[in-house]
Amino acid sequence: MSTNKPKAGFATRAIHVGQEPDPSTGAVAPAIFATSTYVQEEIGKHKGYEYARVSNPTRTRLEENLASLEGGLAARVFSSGMAEINAITTMLKNGNHVVCGNNLYGGTPRLFNQVWSDFGLEFTYVDTSDPRNVQRAIKKDTRMVFIETPTNPLMALTDIRAVSDVCRPKKIDLVVDNTFMSPYFQQPIGLGADVVVHSTTKFLNGHSDGLGGLVVCTRQDQADKLAFLQKAAGAILSPFECWLILRGVKTLALRMEKHDESGRLVAEFLSKHKKVKKVFYPGLPDHPQHELAKRQMSGFGSMITFETGSLSNANKMLRKVEVCSLGESLGGVETLISHPATMTHAALGEKGRREIGITDGLVRISVGVEDVEDIVDDLDQALSAI
Ligand SMILES: Cc1ncc(COP(=O)(O)O)c(C=O)c1O
Repeated sequence: MSTNKPKAGFATRAIHVGQEPDPSTGAVAPAIFATSTYVQEEIGKHKGYEYARVSNPTRTRLEENLASLEGGLAARVFSSGMAEINAITTMLKNGNHVVCGNNLYGGTPRLFNQVWSDFGLEFTYVDTSDPRNVQRAIKKDTRMVFIETPTNPLMALTDIRAVSDVCRPKKIDLVVDNTFMSPYFQQPIGLGADVVVHSTTKFLNGHSDGLGGLVVCTRQDQADKLAFLQKAAGAILSPFECWLILRGVKTLALRMEKHDESGRLVAEFLSKHKKVKKVFYPGLPDHPQHELAKRQMSGFGSMITFETGSLSNANKMLRKVEVCSLGESLGGVETLISHPATMTHAALGEKGRREIGITDGLVRISVGVEDVEDIVDDLDQALSAI
């Protein structure tokens, strides 16, 4: 599709926007432009590409594709999710204040507190599941509200529209980290977000074979500034990793449907298991924000967290898993299982984790697209070790 045809469905756009056949050869798959520079015909006369840090045709294709999937004006990709969060933070100015969710991916507060607070930025962390907490935390210099919904790993939701209603009159940018849901199940821009970010390392790539970060924006000034930051700071995504995402995203709709179907079954199984004390999954009717989940998301996804009771119980079961792979990360075709307290949220420290309810017994699972019976059997035999 040469244009971003608005009426085309999600799966059609995932496969065709930015994924047009190569005009010179007819190749159906996009080329990987492994080049650092581009020949110019004369001074100032070229084909739109000058130097690979500034732009690359494989990257251009990916950025067109992802802007379309998130319904934004433009997309910019970076070398990792953290590089992308760093890029949007550099759009702020000394003295600015940011209101953040208090249960973000651990690397985000690590960047904010251990890097950016030394450069005159101030961060306040609140429970954004109540939009009134966001309202109360806003100060004169607040320029950004940064949320993740559902949160990692406790799966608490934030009402994006309600928080946007708080931010918009004050001209504060609402940034939503949409990594857990992917654009297939959640469209934050349609709900009032100004910026959407992703670790493409997860569902967008989908195959656990490359890092990446994405910013989708809604205004030209943001798009220009982010392109400038790619050029000025250079944390760009390599053409090969752009290509991996272009390939992965073609099956995003299919994968997400399967992730969701299996996620619901695994959550139901865990919720009935006698060794499991609590299950955190927005698709379960007893999730406190189940109604918001139904309204705000078009699926519940495959991220599930459950309580085993103690570090020793968690360790006993995690040592026994066979189909599930013990490791950090999520969103791949393979089921990944992790221990937030010692992995993704270790940087928060014991006190920080206690404050937001991350216990040593919590286990998080990213349900993959294997046969779901095998995942359930594996969890069942692993839980028998407790
Ligand atoms: C929600 C979320 N945002 C951002 C990141 C950071 O992404 P990356 O690991 O690609 O730097 C992660 C990583 O796990 C994440 O889960």
